[in-house]
Amino acid sequence: MPTRQDLPPVVELRGVEKRFASGLTALAGVDLAVERGEFLSLLGPSGCGKSTLLRIVAGLTPLSAGHFRLSLGGQNGRRGTAGRVGFVFQDPTLMPWSTVANNVLLPFRIAGRSGEAARELALAAVRAVGLAGFEDAYPHQLSGGMRMRVSIARALVTDPELLLLDEPFAALDEITRLALNDDLLRLWEERRPTIVFVTHSVFESVYLSTRIAVMTARPGRIAADLAVDLAQPRGPATRSSREYAATCERVSAALGAAMAGA
Ligand SMILES: Nc1ncnc2c1ncn2[C@@H]1O[C@H](COP(=O)(O)OP(=O)(O)OP(=O)(O)O)[C@@H](O)[C@H]1O
Ligand SMILES: [Mg+2]
Repeated sequence: MPTRQDLPPVVELRGVEKRFASGLTALAGVDLAVERGEFLSLLGPSGCGKSTLLRIVAGLTPLSAGHFRLSLGGQNGRRGTAGRVGFVFQDPTLMPWSTVANNVLLPFRIAGRSGEAARELALAAVRAVGLAGFEDAYPHQLSGGMRMRVSIARALVTDPELLLLDEPFAALDEITRLALNDDLLRLWEERRPTIVFVTHSVFESVYLSTRIAVMTARPGRIAADLAVDLAQPRGPATRSSREYAATCERVSAALGAAMAGA
C-alpha cells in the first residue's frame, strides 16, 4: 500500500500560463502543488486570475503553456474525473425549475446514475448542509445562504476527492458566512477532501486553511506560500486567539507586498 507521503500531489501546476484569445495574459508562471487533504486558500486582488486558475484545475479551460496534472487516488484508476472533483461557483447556479433534492442529484444524473441509491445520497447531502425539510422546495423559495448550501451539497454529493470553491460566501451576510465557514470546516474534518478555496478575505483564509497561496496582480503568479499552523479543529476560540491575529497580520503583509508587485 502506498503511504500518504508516496502519493503525488493532487494538483500540480508548473510554469502555467493562460492567454485568452483577446490577447490578455491572465496567468504567467504559476507554480503550485496541492497535497492530499490540504485546505489551500488562493488569495489575491480582483482580476489576478484566481477564477481562471480554478477553472484550469477543474478542466473547464485549457492552459496556454506549462504543465498541469491532476492525480486523483481512489480504488479504480479507470474512473474518470466525473464525480471526483466538486466545483462550487460564486453564483450558486441552481436549476430554478428543479427542487432542492433534484438539483443535488444533478451530478449523478450527469454520470448516468439516478436510481434509489443516488437519491438516498442526495437526501443525505441535503441533510448534511442543514437543509432537512427543504428537499422539495424550489430555489426561489430559499434565501441566498440556503441556495449556497444547496450548491455545496451538490458539489459534495459524490464525495469528491477534490473540492474547488470560488468565493462561495462572498455575497452573504457576515453571520451566514461565519456559520458556513464552520460547516465547511466540519465537512473537511469528516471527509478530508483536498480543498482549493478562492477568497478575497484574509480573515476567512486564515480561519479555514492549512496553507495560503498569495497571488500577484495580473498576470497572476504565486507570490507567497504560507503555512497556517493554527491548532485544529478551528472554532470560535480560534478567532479570538493571539496566534490568529498574528497570522492575519502576516498574511495581510504578504498580500500587500504581492499587490505592490514585490
Ligand atoms: N474568457 C475570458 N476572456 C478574456 N479575458 C478573460 C476571460 N476570463 C477572464 N478574463 C480576464 O482574465 C483576468 C483574470 O480573471 P479572473 O476572473 O480569473 O480573475 P479573479 O482573480 O478571479 O478576479 P475576481 O477576484 O474579481 O473574481 C481578468 O483580467 C479578466 O478580465
Ligand atoms: Mg474570480
